[in-house]
Amino acid sequence: RRISPLEGEMAGRPEGGAWRQPEDKSTRFFANGNFYTPDRKARFIAIRPAAQTRTNPDYPLVLNTGRVRDHWHTMTRTGKSPRLSQHMAEPFVEIHPADAQHYGIGDADIVRVSTAHGEVLVRALVTVRQRQGSVFVPMHWTDQSSARARVDALVAPTTDAISGQPASKNVAARIQRFAATAFGFAVLAERPASIDADYWSLASCPTGWRLEIALRSGRDWTGFAAALLGLEGETLAYHDIAGGHHRFARFAGSRLVGALYLAPTPVAVSRGWAVEQLGADHADRQARLAIVAGRPGGKSVDRGAIVCACFGVGANQIAEAVRGGCTSVAAIGSALHAGTNCGSCRAEIKTIIDGRRLQAAE
Ligand code: FES
Repeated sequence: RRISPLEGEMAGRPEGGAWRQPEDKSTRFFANGNFYTPDRKARFIAIRPAAQTRTNPDYPLVLNTGRVRDHWHTMTRTGKSPRLSQHMAEPFVEIHPADAQHYGIGDADIVRVSTAHGEVLVRALVTVRQRQGSVFVPMHWTDQSSARARVDALVAPTTDAISGQPASKNVAARIQRFAATAFGFAVLAERPASIDADYWSLASCPTGWRLEIALRSGRDWTGFAAALLGLEGETLAYHDIAGGHHRFARFAGSRLVGALYLAPTPVAVSRGWAVEQLGADHADRQARLAIVAGRPGGKSVDRGAIVCACFGVGANQIAEAVRGGCTSVAAIGSALHAGTNCGSCRAEIKTIIDGRRLQAAE
């Protein structure tokens, strides 16, 4: 790619140009410990930071945007990988528990994040990993993959004069619970042509798509399901009108075309298990009823949310291994392989181990 004047200066090429290939093409840039300067040493370049955005009563939180481990930029490539999409399948905002409590936001609620520039709708992820007073929203989701989650809508359209980097950190923001009255989760063999929901997020999975939705007001759910799952084949449905729970599963022969779960609160169906049902055989009536129930039947195992994308290992499997005596990341790796490839899931594995230890101690 082309390099900016600053990068060029750092690389000993003030005129800019293209990144120079290492002479030994089998190595990475700078792998030999040398920079592209006459004396091979790096240069620190002093800069004067521009005035920083400060929070104010209207926008009392600091928003930072950034990446998640599984995706690159706007997912034009990584979004095509079902395995990478398993880990974080929808856009989210990380909120410290004290801030979540202050703003009346629960885990898995839908949240409106607003700045002076615009707003997004994303899922709440309440975690002590986030600093109190700050929130984090990832940068990867576009209008192709979610209803309204482009972080560029939140940040000022300014870039650094020298490096060209966008000002995508330290933005004054506020958060507000989105008053959804219905939440939904669906697995679909085909990508839907359109999605009639205030909030939605679509991710690829090995044999189709998984969809999260939230709506401010109810719908004719049978018509809604028909629009999403199609009209071909046989449909099984369950309705709890008073409780606001509706479930639909559509089959073409023994193949699951799609399943839709609706509830007045975030849907508690195992995503990993539901996704696997798209590729499974459902000739057996019990298997079909399990889809409508949204629960694995007797022989099926629910892996839980995928933690290790490299080996498809879920949180339930890790928790089970911890109960069985694996009390270190290395032990989990030996038992399940989780964490033994790219290693980017190790921190999350450790969090599960520590959480289990804490529970045991209490
Ligand atoms: S995600 Fe790569 S080793 Fe777990």
